[in-house]
Amino acid sequence: MNATITQHDKDALHPLASYRTLQPDELQARIEAVRAELGDSLLILGHHYQQDEVIAHTDLRGDSYKLSEMAAASRTCRTIVFCGVHFMAETADILANRPEKLAERDGNRVTVLLPDMAAGCSMADMAAIKQVEAAWEDMSEVIDTQRVIPVTYINSAASLKAFCGRHGGIVCTSSNAKAVLEWAYERGDRVFFFPDQHLGRNTALGLGIGEEQMPVWDPYALELGGNTEKALQDSRVILWKGHCSVHQMFRPEHVDGFRKNHPGIKILVHPECPREVNDIADVSGSTGKIIDTVQNSPAGTKWAIGTELHLVNRLKAEHPEQEIHFLSPVICMCSTMYRIDLPHLCWTLENLRDGAIVNRIEVSDEISKWSLVALERMLAVK
Ligand code: 13P
Ligand code: SF4
Repeated sequence: MNATITQHDKDALHPLASYRTLQPDELQARIEAVRAELGDSLLILGHHYQQDEVIAHTDLRGDSYKLSEMAAASRTCRTIVFCGVHFMAETADILANRPEKLAERDGNRVTVLLPDMAAGCSMADMAAIKQVEAAWEDMSEVIDTQRVIPVTYINSAASLKAFCGRHGGIVCTSSNAKAVLEWAYERGDRVFFFPDQHLGRNTALGLGIGEEQMPVWDPYALELGGNTEKALQDSRVILWKGHCSVHQMFRPEHVDGFRKNHPGIKILVHPECPREVNDIADVSGSTGKIIDTVQNSPAGTKWAIGTELHLVNRLKAEHPEQEIHFLSPVICMCSTMYRIDLPHLCWTLENLRDGAIVNRIEVSDEISKWSLVALERMLAVK
């Protein structure tokens, strides 16, 4: 008789299966028990887009920049459990294990764990190192790449950060993109910005660069990323054709609708939103800036916020004295951030306590070395 293995059977065989049947209060208690037992040797970091129930078990939370600083500063911890997405855990591994930190710990590495390996970032996946290298070579046929500064958004694989490190470039986050571009223009004539065209465009517009000087490089185009030689020669910033599928959902008509129906409302967005939205918003900034802006506003302020749903809902709950709306009529949530949940967190932590390392993120030495060059340049930019 042929036994067919169904998806249901496969799920049941997964080591996590028994955790999925547990009630939230039991998971919470077990997570807290491991945290108490491991004490300072364990650091749980959480990005602002994580679900409330996960955020409740983090030691520190932040936007991508703050989280990088926290990983860079870690002193006592031996393990970082990263409640966020893959590129964030890679960055933590690179920064927490840089040479001077390793020397302080007699060569002992900090282990970085990502509770669900499927927690990636669709934007980061839009630029593969082979494509970026091919683009660099192609553009060198028509422009002097010695004078091009590559800038990668932190939402990218470590191999792209290493590419920037090797080629005189730098990493940026949504909170320092303007200062990073200024840094780049002090060192070159042009910037090659990947993978988020919207952050690149919105930031360059803020520096007074015209959109006609921002060709978009399509890695699937047959020649020169779909551009003419002249467009590349006239460029100030070459934008990679990548985007965030969550922030791309916010539209200018949503802004218009809120302004019409809620007089006095202010629009607060993340710079991963398209230009048409970013241009007409009242405030644009990183998740950290979005939180600070709401926290520092008086009671009665009305906001429509264009960023990931879990953060907006948390702000709504934490600020009942203000009127907070989600900018889009459709649900825009980051499905990969959402993969980190209590069963995955509990499973990761209990394995760690029992001496079994699951879902370790470890960047190779060569990639770490060059990524660190680009990350340290970023951390030095004020
Ligand atoms: P922040 O750096 O603003 O937290 O953004 C991270 C991110 O992934 C936004 O989509
Ligand atoms: Fe990536 Fe967008 Fe999710 Fe941020 S919100 S992690 S950019 S897919």
